Amino acid sequence: MPEIFDFTTFPTLTSERLVLRAPEPDDAADLFVWRSDPVVQRYNSEPMREVAEAAALIAELRREYADRRAIHWLVTLRDDDRPVGLFGYVGWAPGHHRADVGYDLRRDHWGRGIATEALDLLLRFGFDRMDLNRVEAQTIADNHESVRLLERLGFRRDGLRRSYSLEEDGTYHDGAIYGLLRHEYR
Ligand SMILES: CC(C)(COP(=O)(O)OP(=O)(O)OC[C@H]1O[C@@H](n2cnc3c(N)ncnc32)[C@H](O)[C@@H]1OP(=O)(O)O)[C@@H](O)C(=O)NCCC(=O)NCCS
Repeated sequence: MPEIFDFTTFPTLTSERLVLRAPEPDDAADLFVWRSDPVVQRYNSEPMREVAEAAALIAELRREYADRRAIHWLVTLRDDDRPVGLFGYVGWAPGHHRADVGYDLRRDHWGRGIATEALDLLLRFGFDRMDLNRVEAQTIADNHESVRLLERLGFRRDGLRRSYSLEEDGTYHDGAIYGLLRHEYR
């Protein structure tokens, strides 16, 4: 088995179309594009109003990596270094061989398989280099794009938290918990 990842060098990941790299302070304006989009942020925090909020988020993502608490990757296309998505492992519990994933993508890049390709890179890295046995994802149950993404990669629904979050439409939405185990990953 390859060496377990130890945070000393940032793990840039590459696939046919994508390069997943570390967030840099200069990425704030690009991150702001999708984090200020109310459709992308529908099931997440309030849309950002100023680029300074994106800069603060990037500083926090970098701090979490430096503190060895999380790994956040910006998604770029091979021929363009400007980021279009943010994917990451948060809540890594090495003793239990388990971590949670989170992801979002600029809206004009939806529907091209970019999220599938990016999440697959994270999965391969997680099972190979972080020695994970379980990857977990929590999503609002009627976030159809997110649910389709998880199911396409083999995640199974482990449970449902009824009326888990109050969304901006003023109603409670169920929260779904998805898991993918190492032996289920192709
Ligand atoms: C969740 C999210 C990242 C999914 O993005 P996405 O573009 O739907 O996912 P993919 O990039 O994998 O694209 C899949 C779609 O592209 C199509 N597609 C085109 N080319 C493809 C390819 N080469 N490979 C796979 N799918 C491809 C698929 O058919 C699929 O379409 P469908 O959903 O109509 O079946 C995106 O909707 C998002 O950012 N949402 C807002 C943030 C969010 O809710 N995050 C989750 C919080 S828990």
